[in-house]
Amino acid sequence: MIVLGIETSCDETSAAIVENGTLRSNVTAAQLDHARFGGVVPELASRAHQRLIVPVVQQALDTAGVRPNDLDGIAAVNGPGLAGALLVGLSFGKALAFATGKPFIAVNHMEGHLASNLLEDPRPEYPFLNLTVSGGHTQLVLVRSLHDVTVLGETIDDAAGEAFDKVAKMLGLEYPGGPAVDRRAARGNASAVVFPRPGLDRADDSFSFSGLKTSVLYYLREQAYDPTTASESFIADVCASFQAAVIDVLVGKLFRAAARERVRAVSIAGGVSANRGLRQRAQHVADTQGVRLCMPRMEFCTDNGAMIAMAGYLRLMARHTSSFEISIEPNRSLTRV
Ligand code: KG4
Ligand code: ZN
Repeated sequence: MIVLGIETSCDETSAAIVENGTLRSNVTAAQLDHARFGGVVPELASRAHQRLIVPVVQQALDTAGVRPNDLDGIAAVNGPGLAGALLVGLSFGKALAFATGKPFIAVNHMEGHLASNLLEDPRPEYPFLNLTVSGGHTQLVLVRSLHDVTVLGETIDDAAGEAFDKVAKMLGLEYPGGPAVDRRAARGNASAVVFPRPGLDRADDSFSFSGLKTSVLYYLREQAYDPTTASESFIADVCASFQAAVIDVLVGKLFRAAARERVRAVSIAGGVSANRGLRQRAQHVADTQGVRLCMPRMEFCTDNGAMIAMAGYLRLMARHTSSFEISIEPNRSLTRV
């Protein structure tokens, strides 16, 4: 069974081939044009997807040594994500499926992030508890199987990645903000500033990061912060202190829910799971508590075609294919199929 997966939900144009559950190729073109605007510009993103989709898919096929007629299914993301960006990948995927007479599978982007854990060896055993932390989502998901999931909690305001991006912007750091904060945090003192740990004391599984972001803003105002004159060490300390607060909340809530749900394996996925501080801390807690922790390798944390090809492959195996009538769903939720 050979499946092509296409990801175009935000600013990465990516395509991959999965054959019988094994990754054969993964090609990602990150759109760097957004950097000078300090964030993803939706219209730029869709134009770049249009420009990149053919060469990216071609390269994914070539690297795997696969021709379009060898495919058993074609999967593309149809939501959640940016409408114009989703349209490019979905239309391309449907057109290729129609032209080759192959089944088409519309994949939920969040299910794709869950599937990124299944690209690794060994895979987490079901049931496992996954924390998806990306630019648009913060979700704690109980995964009984990839097609039987329960969202235990989500963010009620900003996503974790969004908080990283906004704090980076306040500090005047380069785009994208997450990796910029991560790099500086590694050199800073995490106890330099005490920021709040929002929601850590609440028993439920929801998250909230907007208060933390505001605390950083107030602190910078109090210190009359000026990016042109601030010292490297001041910036590193703010990054480390902010990052430590986010990590405390994420790791605290993940492992508390894991104990309550009595799962033996947990996983972290999404762009923020590339954060080195988060990975180290989660590994430490997992080792202490005797829980198995799975994390996708760095290239599968941020958006990628491999996770879509894997999710598509598993849907195809379960005979969950989509009609050509299916459209984009920018607000698609994880639990509604
Ligand atoms: O999963 P993703 O590529 O796209 C979405 O589906 O949103 O996640 C992108 C998010 C951005 O907010 C980015 O700043 C964040 O992931 N990110 C990081 C790191 N690398 C990417 N956040 C913290 N530390 C990182 N190393
Ligand atoms: Zn994503």
